[in-house]
Amino acid sequence: MEKHTAIVPCLFLGLILTLGAFAPRVEAARAFFVFGDSLVDNGNNNYLATTARADAPPYGIDYPTHLPTGRFSNGLNIPDLISEQIGSESTLPYLSPELTGERLLIGANFASAGIGILNDTGIQFVNIIRISKQLEYFQQYQQRVSSLIGEDQMQRLVNQALVLITLGGNDFVNNYYLVPFSARSRQFALPDYVVYLISEYRKILARLYELGARRVLVTGTGPLGCVPAELAQRSPNGECAVELQRAAGLFNPQLVDMINSLNSDLGADVFVAANAMQMNLDFVNNPRAYGGMLWARAIQRDRAVHDSLEPVP
Ligand SMILES: *[C@@H]1O[C@H](CO)[C@@H](O)[C@H](O)[C@H]1NC(C)=O
Repeated sequence: MEKHTAIVPCLFLGLILTLGAFAPRVEAARAFFVFGDSLVDNGNNNYLATTARADAPPYGIDYPTHLPTGRFSNGLNIPDLISEQIGSESTLPYLSPELTGERLLIGANFASAGIGILNDTGIQFVNIIRISKQLEYFQQYQQRVSSLIGEDQMQRLVNQALVLITLGGNDFVNNYYLVPFSARSRQFALPDYVVYLISEYRKILARLYELGARRVLVTGTGPLGCVPAELAQRSPNGECAVELQRAAGLFNPQLVDMINSLNSDLGADVFVAANAMQMNLDFVNNPRAYGGMLWARAIQRDRAVHDSLEPVP
């Protein structure tokens, strides 16, 4: 009898532990899905044979582990900060072998450095996950989650999730302006290219809606001509590169218009434009308000000056 009573609680505890390990936590933090390029990739490209990768120092220098993770950042990236805000752990890269079981319910990051709105953006990086493939993976993800928690619960999880999509910068930097007389720049004057990009982007967002996304943050481009890599390549005197600034200036307002028109067609504010330009400018113009070190480090990295990692004075 004593033996019996000792065994029952053990079995019972085992059962609770087992249930605990497999019981879906759908009502936990809202799921989060990330699509886009290097600004939001958190490691997918580590699993690909591509030169667009961030798996070596000094990437990750300020990350909690101080190790490179595949994020194109000295530390956390925007998706990490959003995850923190929604009370969740960071999503795993979709290609991570650790993204299984209950971890799928946190969401997933499908982003891949180098990609753009257009399929021909980033071709020099060869093996990257273009946006149509990211959306296919999202469908595959949904099938995997359905078999975990059932079709209805999966649909609820996806409909209630927060989604972030960041695209467009590479369509300029790694396509139109990649080389002088690029194919796209011979095909289109800049204003016409922007119109084309926006019309293609609209199709991508509409597809995201079809796949169940109902709350989507869409970032515009930052000051493309002022990013450290462009300053290093194009600007001996430190002035932001004029053509890239012009591109961003054309792209952002048309993106906002397209989002408004799409929302109005859908009859709901599904897509939310995020003003990355203003956020970046705030950050460059007042670095001390944002921790200071980050921007200076990025510039130093791109100029291959690693000898003084001092905070911005
Ligand atoms: C990009 O490639 C995908 C997959 O091959 C295709 O479905 C899509 O139509 C292409 N987009 C454009 C604008 O050609």
